[in-house]
Amino acid sequence: MKIGVLGAGTMGAGIAQVAAQNGHSVVLVDVNQTVLDLAKNGHVKMIHRLVEKGSLTNAECDQILGAFHYATSMSDLKDCGLVIEAIIEDLTVKHSVFVQMESIVDSTCILASNTSSLSIASIGSALKKADRMIGIHFFNPAPLMPLVEIIPAVQTSAETVELVTHLISSWKKTAVVCKDTPGFIVNRVARPFYGEALRIYEEGIADFATIDWAMTSIGGFKMGPFTLMDYIGNDVNYAVTESVFQSFYFDPRFKPSFTQKRHKEAGYFGRKTGRGYYDYSEGAILPSPCEDQELGKYIFERILVMLINEATDAVFMQVTDAEGVDLAMTKGVNYPKGLLRWADEIGLDVVLLKIEDLFSEYGEDRYRPNPLLRKLARANEKFHA
Ligand code: NAI
Repeated sequence: MKIGVLGAGTMGAGIAQVAAQNGHSVVLVDVNQTVLDLAKNGHVKMIHRLVEKGSLTNAECDQILGAFHYATSMSDLKDCGLVIEAIIEDLTVKHSVFVQMESIVDSTCILASNTSSLSIASIGSALKKADRMIGIHFFNPAPLMPLVEIIPAVQTSAETVELVTHLISSWKKTAVVCKDTPGFIVNRVARPFYGEALRIYEEGIADFATIDWAMTSIGGFKMGPFTLMDYIGNDVNYAVTESVFQSFYFDPRFKPSFTQKRHKEAGYFGRKTGRGYYDYSEGAILPSPCEDQELGKYIFERILVMLINEATDAVFMQVTDAEGVDLAMTKGVNYPKGLLRWADEIGLDVVLLKIEDLFSEYGEDRYRPNPLLRKLARANEKFHA
């Protein structure tokens, strides 16, 4: 099957590479020739690096690089069996390209979006034949991150879901099907990793370095929340938080933080601007954490139970099942353990008690324990058998 990718930026170029490495002919389209040239150079560099590492033979390298076709016109998508759109995150622009695409491709061609924050139903509404519309959400960098969220819209046919899930799994990716709800799985469940860390900082409980130390040294996470936000970019991370908050009708669980907003407003985006929560300029000395074990344990447990509460809500609201949440968080954002397996290990009654403590201390809706957690804890049950 020929695969089309629309948009050759960060995500599009990566998705096109994944498809080509899995034996497909790929048409990569972008309105901007400079972006296409950059994507092409990136592909050549990346594929040659894999040959140097011994992961690919010279013949495979030639075959993969020969599989790409770079184009500025959408008409080149004509013979594709699947087109994945990865252009600017703007519903009006996406609508216009989906209408154009539908006039070019065959009636059996599946049309997908890699959107992070728009609903698949809203994008699909532009199509005449909307049962072929689906969300295929890759993580950055697409060639390296194993998770792909597959998001059927209300319009999507069961056949489309099955075909896409099968295809993405054949690309050696972990495909997890989830509901068309804001943030899908990862961008919803991960919110407290940032939000609760920021809250702990804002309350003056600990500084950035100490919170990061607690989550890495005690929690076993690869990166602390502030290091990770600086890596993602505070502009990008804040935009996701704000979009999730608005999309959930301003549920206080997702309330953005003034600290992050001010960092964004100041241009302290993180690594890319040389300054975020930390200073990345040459010669700058990173602050040392206060390595108080008791404080570290408090920080880690508070953030972890909030993550577990959110993961539970995704199951409670049927976004996906417990296995799906755990796969998503380990394969999409490298969490050291699946959150719900982690909860099982700790004991759901213990987790619930900690959330109830926060709720009674603060009296804020943000800390309300999820009903499913209560139900399972009461019945002495677990998420996983
Ligand atoms: P990007 O800004 O790097 O690339 C977008 C590309 O689309 C640009 O090269 C632009 O020239 C091109 N483009 C814009 N309008 C076009 C049109 N009408 N026809 C053809 N090409 C057009 O954006 P990025 O980061 O790759 O994001 C793309 C999509 O993927 C967005 O929907 C975003 O929400 C989603 N996404 C982004 C992730 C990330 O970490 N950057 C992660 C997962 C999803």
